[in-house]
Parts: sequence; structure tokens; C-alpha cells
Amino acid sequence: MDQISGQGDGFYLVPTGGGVGAEVRGVDLRVVDDATFAAIARAWTEHAVLLFRGQHLTDPDLVAFSRRFGGLDLAPIQETGRRSVQGLPEIYVVSNVIENGAPIGSLGSGEAVWHTDMSYLPEPPKASLLYAVEIPPVGGNTSFVNMYAALEALPEALRRRVAGLRVKHDGTYNSGGYVRQGVAETGDPRTSAGTLHPLICRHPESGREMLYLGRRRNAYIEGLELAESEALLDALWAGMDDPAIGYSHRWQVGDLVLWDNRCTMHRRDAFDPSSRRVMHRTQVKGSAPPSAA
Ligand code: OGA
Ligand code: MN
Repeated sequence: MDQISGQGDGFYLVPTGGGVGAEVRGVDLRVVDDATFAAIARAWTEHAVLLFRGQHLTDPDLVAFSRRFGGLDLAPIQETGRRSVQGLPEIYVVSNVIENGAPIGSLGSGEAVWHTDMSYLPEPPKASLLYAVEIPPVGGNTSFVNMYAALEALPEALRRRVAGLRVKHDGTYNSGGYVRQGVAETGDPRTSAGTLHPLICRHPESGREMLYLGRRRNAYIEGLELAESEALLDALWAGMDDPAIGYSHRWQVGDLVLWDNRCTMHRRDAFDPSSRRVMHRTQVKGSAPPSAA
């Protein structure tokens, strides 16, 4: 265990043992002083995914802690067309629970495929904070992959081939496969809604280079024939499930996971639709558009 320098007793960082992330122990996120926050921010830049277990956060507590990282985005409109929490427009509910005939949140109980949050926008959020309110007995694990390591793992020839290219991050579908509000459904990546970002970006805070893929569905590498774009994308995506560069999180109620939405992607396993899963999420506004390395 590495003790975070400058912290009092009980504040520890325990790496997950996987290819990304660390657990921060000994912090109550309702009361974080400036020195502790500075240490959390440093640990976050270094580990990209931070886990805090055993928290007791109300929605306003979650919003207040999230705001320490910067201004928050308003929650995207749900699949059903409504905003999630009355009076707290920053809270996005991820849930399969149905109340009064309508889902209280997004993403259902199926798999959510690998993605970066909202990278179909020109300036995606830099961070997401996901807090576990109710957890099913099995399933629904969330996995993370380290996109610095994903870039390092690319064969040299492939890396040279994609250097300087941009990829379209599709805005048609969310990670649960649902069509976003207000977009026309299409399976043609060349014409679908979305934003082009450099495939290899430099992280504005760590200064390190990373692969920036966003999501696979309807992705398209600018300027290429569709078949060549598909082949290159398949090659780039081939390494994403390698456990050596990832971490799979098994949730407990009271867990808060904070991820760097630039240098990681995440996915969620399906779970039994008859069990309940309720997560509350905030997102911190991006400080800059993803820029080429
Ligand atoms: C998200 C997300 C997956 C999960 O909140 O952005 O992808 O595990 N959640 O609920
Ligand atoms: Mn997500």
C-alpha cells in the first residue's frame, strides 16, 4: 500500500491490482478538506479510476463533491425523454427500475458496451462519478480499460498507420444500444451524427499519449474507404478486453467510482432484469476538446 504523501493517518491508496485504478481508503467524501482534495486529484491523474467504498452520499453530497473537479454538465435527457431527478439537473440515473410504468433511469439491464461518455460531442466531460445506491446480487459489474496502456500495446506498424487520423465518435446510439433523443437512426458510419476526434490524443493534465476510440458502433476513420476504416477499427479494438490493461469492478452499495473519461473507457455487464440496480451519476465538464498528440 502506498500512503498518499501529505495525508493524515488512514488515507491510503490501494491499487486495484488490475491494469487501471486504485481504491482510496479512509476518506469520507462528505467532508473533504483542500489538502485531501489535492491528494485525491493527484491520485486520479495517476490512476485514472478511483474507488471510494462505504460512502453515505445524498444527491446534494454527490453534486458537491463532483463540483470540486469543475463545473458539472446537466444530465443528458433519458431514453424516455425525461430528466432524471427533480430539482437536481446534474444527476443522471442509471437504472433498470420501472416505476409507474416508466423506467426511472437509463441503460436498462442489458450489457452496456465499451465506451467513453458523450464523446460524440466536441468537448466531452472529463470525468464521471458513479455512485451505487442499489446493486443486484449478481451481474452488473463495470469494467474499465486504460487507454494509455491500450496505445502502448498497439503493434508499431498499426500505431504508425493511424497516427494523425481522426475517428468519428457516433452520436446515434448510447452504450445500451438505445437511439439518443433527437437523432435519426442510421447504420452508416460515414453519414451518422457525431464528432471527429484524433485517434491518438495527448491528455491535457498527465501529458501522456492515449488511444481515443469512444465506441465501436458507427465509428468511422475520416477519409478512408468504409471497408478499410472497419478493418483498422477492428484491429484497434482487438485489445480492449485484455485484463492486463483493465479492471472489472464488482459493486457494493455505497461505492463511488470516479473515472477519467479521457484516458479510460468503460462497459457494464448485463444483469437479471428482475433485480434492481440504481446508480446516480454526475459528469464534470471537459476543460478542452481532445487534442492530437
Ligand atoms: C455510465 C455508465 C455503467 C454502469 O454511467 O456512464 O456507463 O455500470 N454506467 O452503470
Ligand atoms: Mn458510461
